[in-house]
Formats: sequence, structure tokens, C-alpha cells
Amino acid sequence: MTRVLQPDAAGIADAAAILRAGGLAAFGTETVYGLGADATQPEAIARLYAAKGRPAHNPLISHFADADAAFAHVLADARARLLAAQFWPGPLTLVLPMGEAGAIVPAARAGLPSAAVRVPQGAALQSLLRAVGRPVAAPSANRSGHVSPTTAAHVLADLGGRIDAVLDTGPCAVGVESSVLDLTGDAAVLLRPGGIARETLSALIGPVRLAGKDAGITAPGMLASHYAPVLPLRLQAARPAADEALLAFGPAPPPAALMRNLSARGDLEEAAHNLFAALRALDQEARARGLRGIAVMPIPESGIGAALQDRLTRAAAPRG
Ligand code: TXA
Ligand code: MG
Repeated sequence: MTRVLQPDAAGIADAAAILRAGGLAAFGTETVYGLGADATQPEAIARLYAAKGRPAHNPLISHFADADAAFAHVLADARARLLAAQFWPGPLTLVLPMGEAGAIVPAARAGLPSAAVRVPQGAALQSLLRAVGRPVAAPSANRSGHVSPTTAAHVLADLGGRIDAVLDTGPCAVGVESSVLDLTGDAAVLLRPGGIARETLSALIGPVRLAGKDAGITAPGMLASHYAPVLPLRLQAARPAADEALLAFGPAPPPAALMRNLSARGDLEEAAHNLFAALRALDQEARARGLRGIAVMPIPESGIGAALQDRLTRAAAPRG
């Protein structure tokens, strides 16, 4: 049985107790719902990987109430401190070398000498992280490979019965995952585009390379096929075929038998906020109506549009 906890003092205390005891509790962040486990307990981390069906080579992000708590575990250089001061709490994850006193267990970082850390937004979540008082590892709270969850109901649909609790903090504001920035080398490398745009990061710390494209490294555990609904996706579609539903963007979508518009006013932030919920809903409704696929209209790649494009490209990739 998975308990649904309210984001009040009692619910937060229950979620903290579950995490400190080595259990699994999901919670909303500003990006997506995370499935939390104590990153200092190898058994808790093993439970987390099992519940998600996540491959062991895919490392986790540890979450903290503030930058001081995060930087007690990793080696933060001047770039990291600058970014933290500017963007935390917020949708930015920093990959940094583990520190001497760092307590994030190897199982939570796929055995790597580095760790990913972030300080998420949300009053209830920050109270929870403070009450746990340890690094809380949290991947998106979906079955591995599925569409990420942005409501407690999405979490229950994927993981109900497999986890101890979900703290229902309401729908997530940003809607796509954090930007993951690797600062372990001299060059900053964006491993995953996300809630904070590459342009915004480089305005503060100088050039930011893109993993795979202009940097020689790739992100561990980032699979080509991910975020996948059941129906196949067709990107850059001008109009849907007769047996396709339409995932639209902007004020003038073509006619469609079934449609969800990410943002009728063509706003990328609104589109990001709606993306995963729209994909889940459209997938279900289209299958119920016997449609065979989802056509996706073109979406601009500026700002958070890069994160949208990344998620849609991987949702459309051939399944392994
Ligand atoms: O917005 C988010 O980041 C959400 C919420 C819950 O915080 N979390 C999330 O976690 O998206 P997840 O597990 O779905 O994605 C984490 C990614 C991994 O796939 C990996 O590519 C990267 O972060 N990562 C984690 N640790 C790393 C490390 N030590 N080195 C390089 N990349 C790492
Ligand atoms: Mg994920």
C-alpha cells in the first residue's frame, strides 16, 4: 500500500520518518515528482532502483535543503558557488567531485567519483529535506523509461503499491527536469538541457558545451529512448494523419480528431509545464479511440524549448 501524505506538518514528519528508516517516499519538486531514498543507505538505494526498474549504471541526483548542506558532500569550485547563489533553490543540478567527507554512497552514483547535487524549490519539500538531514537521492518517480510524473496521481499510476508514500505537493510548476551541468572538468558541460536554459548558464560562467555534440563526454545513464508513451510519436509534423492524435503548440493548430495544445499562446514555459501531463493524457485518450500514433508540431528550441525538444526526441526514439 502506498500512503498519500498531505504537505502539512504531520505528512512531512511521516515522509521524513519513512526516508530516515530506509523507505521510499515520493514528493513534488518544481520540476517533476521525485522518488526519494536516503542516499547514505545502500539498502534504501537498492530498493529505489528495484521499484523503478532502473539500470544500475544510471546515477542519481541527491537533494538538499540548501547549498551549504549540498557542498558538505562535494567539492564546490567558484563556478559552482556562483551558480548555486544565483539559481538555488531551482531547476539546476551540478555534477561535482565527491568530497573527503561526502556520505553519498557509491550505489547512489553508479560507482562514479562524482555526485550530482541540487537544491529544489518548494516549502514543504524544503521542510522535508531539513527534517531528513541527509542527502536524499531522487530520480523522477516513474517506472524507468516511462513519461515523467508531474502530479501525485501520475506517481500512483506508475508506482502505486511499490513505494511507501507520496507527499502530494500539487502539480509541478516547471514541468521538465532540472538542467544537469557537469563541472568536474575545466569546461562546463550541459549533460541534460532542463529548467534553466544553456544561454542563462553561460551568461554567468562563460561557455557551456553540450554533451555529445560539442563535448567529448556523454551523460551516464541517459538513454536514447526515454519518456516514452505507449503510442509512437512523430515529430515536426505539419498535420496529423487520419489515425493520429495531435500534440499541438501555438495559436493555429491544424484540424485533428483528437488534440492537446501545449500552449495556445505559443509560450514555451507554459508548454514545459503541460508537456508530460499532456503526453500521458493524449496517449490514453488516443488508445481509447483506436488511434495509432501521436503527431507533434514543431516547437522552437530557444530557452526551455531545448529541454522540450530533448524530451520529445527521446520519447520518439525507437524502443530498445
Ligand atoms: O528535475 C530533476 O532533476 C528530477 C527531480 C526529481 O529532482 N530528477 C531527475 O533525476 O530527473 P533522474 O534520475 O531522472 O535523472 C538524473 C540524471 C541521470 O540520468 C544522469 O544522467 C545524471 O542525472 N547524473 C546523476 N549523477 C551523475 C554523475 N555523477 N555524473 C554525471 N551525470 C550524473
Ligand atoms: Mg527520469
